Amino acid sequence: MKTPLSSSPSVVLRKTRFSPYLFTLLAFIVFVAILYGEDFMCILGQLEPSPGRVISKPKPVKKISKLAFAIGEGEEGCDIFSGRWVRDELTRPLYEESDCPYIQPQLTCQGRGRPDQDYQKWRWQPHGCDLPSFNATLMLETLRGKRMMFVGDSLNRGQYTSMICLVHRLIPDDQKSIKTYSHDSLTVFKAKDYNMSIEFYWAPFLLESNADNAIVHRISDRVVRKGSINKHGKHWKGVDILVFNTYLWWMTGLEMKVLKGSFEDDDKEIITISTEEAYGMGMRSMLRWVRRNMDRRKTRVFFTSMSPTHAKGIDWGGKPGENCYNQTTMIEDPNYWGSDSRKSIMKVIGEVFSKSKYPVTFLNITQLSNYRKDAHTSIYKKQWNPLTPEQLANPASYADCVHWCLPGLQDTWNELLFAKLFYP
Ligand SMILES: *[C@@H]1O[C@H](CO)[C@@H](O)[C@H](O)[C@H]1NC(C)=O
Ligand SMILES: *[C@@H]1O[C@H](CO)[C@@H](O)[C@H](O)[C@H]1NC(C)=O
Ligand SMILES: *[C@@H]1O[C@H](CO)[C@@H](O)[C@H](O)[C@H]1NC(C)=O
Ligand SMILES: *[C@@H]1O[C@H](CO)[C@@H](O)[C@H](O)[C@H]1NC(C)=O
Repeated sequence: MKTPLSSSPSVVLRKTRFSPYLFTLLAFIVFVAILYGEDFMCILGQLEPSPGRVISKPKPVKKISKLAFAIGEGEEGCDIFSGRWVRDELTRPLYEESDCPYIQPQLTCQGRGRPDQDYQKWRWQPHGCDLPSFNATLMLETLRGKRMMFVGDSLNRGQYTSMICLVHRLIPDDQKSIKTYSHDSLTVFKAKDYNMSIEFYWAPFLLESNADNAIVHRISDRVVRKGSINKHGKHWKGVDILVFNTYLWWMTGLEMKVLKGSFEDDDKEIITISTEEAYGMGMRSMLRWVRRNMDRRKTRVFFTSMSPTHAKGIDWGGKPGENCYNQTTMIEDPNYWGSDSRKSIMKVIGEVFSKSKYPVTFLNITQLSNYRKDAHTSIYKKQWNPLTPEQLANPASYADCVHWCLPGLQDTWNELLFAKLFYP
């Protein structure tokens, strides 16, 4: 129900100044304020402070500065990342694998012979509210004349690809293009008439590292360079919506090698610190870059949390040797979390972000993805190397339990991004 105030609050308030019925009105407003306390606070919160307002100010209302691109507010008290998976054959998948030519051969599971499709038919249902449905028209109109860029590792490349798949059908064939630059470090999808681009920039640590070559990056002895964010960051300048991720590449064990100085130095000073410490260093570098280079009134920055892997069946009560291979159902235990490293890294993220002065929107997709042991590409992907007879005899040995089939789980990550972009 609407209060009389909500139709045109400023007018009502200004009129009261000289009204002979001031007292009656005031009494009425107080009455309404008590009845609809919350709405009333909201209305007052939205008003610009004007000198000479008759009504004394209510207790301090937290001033929420509007985030760029927001068209509404998320439901108060609803954590959209806390929820459950609901089977939905009517609206899922959001597109067909065969309708999106941009999916890399590493993620086209049906095309590579995956026999089941159930993994495509789930919708994320937050406990406290509903997600807005992904509106590709709105997304494209918002991106008109703008650049959106995903920066990070191959998991973020998957989310990037999902985003293109979700919007590309609205763009005529002769208006869209995709190109890669600098040996695959940068992939740019463009829509000519919209004058917009959706891009992916490969930087698995965000900082400079010895794994930065987008093609030859399978390095076991990984070294990341301290204080080097501008090495890649200079290529992110001028972007309107940035989506970062970084996690898996830091997981080399309990420790991480960090280079002080430069990779060109003859005498390299390399220190070894704990993974958490190193990851925190990376996070703080990213936030510093964001603070210095992004304009919070016009741009948005997202950070996607750790994408979980499902390489050890014993984690969810499976048999030893089992992994994501041949899994067609998800993990039912709502409290399932999996590996401990995810916990300690989540803690680092929480600490670093809580001190951030820049509003980075956190996409906390770890828990909801934890359940999805069924959603990985497994053996249904293009293989880098020919398989040996031993591997062929034991498919679990070469299953990819890191990446996700498209369409699939990562479309949900983008639905959450959509929700937070427009209704933060
Ligand atoms: C999607 O967004 C467009 C542009 O804002 C709007 O005109 C349209 O009504 C929306 N569609 C739905 C189904 O909400
Ligand atoms: C296209 O978008 C870019 C920003 O990405 C902007 O600088 C340029 O002015 C736009 N061009 C036109 C013709 O709108
Ligand atoms: C796959 O899982 C099903 C049960 O879900 C089982 O019957 C079958 O033997 C498994 N196949 C292989 C090759 O492991
Ligand atoms: C992300 O979600 C998980 C599980 O819901 C929660 O435990 C964690 O604290 C959240 N992380 C942050 C940084 O808010």
